[in-house]
Amino acid sequence: MTPPVSFRNVSYRVGGKDILRDFSLDVAAGETIVLLGRSGSGKTTALKMVNALLRPSAGEVMVDGRPTTSWDPIRLRRRIGYVIQEAGLFPHVTVEGNVGLVPRLEGTPAAAIRTRVHALLDQVGLPPAQFAARYPRELSGGQRQRVGVARALAADPPLLLFDEPFGALDPVTRVELQRQFLELRRRLGKTAIFVTHDVREALLVATRIALLHEGRLAVLAAPADFLRARGEEARAFLACLDPQAAPP
Ligand SMILES: Nc1ncnc2c1ncn2[C@@H]1O[C@H](COP(=O)(O)OP(=O)(O)O)[C@@H](O)[C@H]1O
Ligand SMILES: [Mg+2]
Repeated sequence: MTPPVSFRNVSYRVGGKDILRDFSLDVAAGETIVLLGRSGSGKTTALKMVNALLRPSAGEVMVDGRPTTSWDPIRLRRRIGYVIQEAGLFPHVTVEGNVGLVPRLEGTPAAAIRTRVHALLDQVGLPPAQFAARYPRELSGGQRQRVGVARALAADPPLLLFDEPFGALDPVTRVELQRQFLELRRRLGKTAIFVTHDVREALLVATRIALLHEGRLAVLAAPADFLRARGEEARAFLACLDPQAAPP
């Protein structure tokens, strides 16, 4: 079967610096690949190549068997839900308007959009009677991220990209949204690529963890195997789980 996403020897170079180096990875249908790594390790760069916000300097990223460079970028992005840290909501548009944005662009009839948006708001834990008419500034950070997730799901895309979606939230809210992510995944079975620098989050949500170090793939392992990984960068991340343990 054609993997939904395949990185093939991808490099990305800016100003003589290799931000991503010879990165290869097949993402299987229905799995959640976590790109884990320090700040600056190339995670966002790798993610932005999937929805063609960036083009590889070498190699290619295949989506459904076709290089991103041969997709019409608009069609490609409509197949991909994208959730970023500050949710990226339009400030002067209501919650309902923000979530219904892509279906509206696709010409879905207004009544159908409304039904869909209200169902999605329910799914992400925001009762529409209370939240549909609010503006982003009238929401907490956690509620804004829930709206961001609902918006990413609105056009029912087969692929979801998450770039540190819960990174700016307080720890209690973060755990609530992580649980919700797991519940949605169980229910919807979508393929996802999820970027984080938080090893706990990676272990919780990943089917496989891809650890990036200075633009290279350092480890690719299921969470249980990642816990036993030997490499220095993997050990550095695992040490975060128990800060009181002696350094490796
Ligand atoms: N357009 C750019 N020009 C120069 N450097 C960049 C550019 N985009 C990213 N970088 C650098 O590339 C590295 C990796 O960036 P990024 O993929 O955003 O890392 P991460 O998401 O893992 O924190 C960083 O050191 C960043 O400063
Ligand atoms: Mg980033």
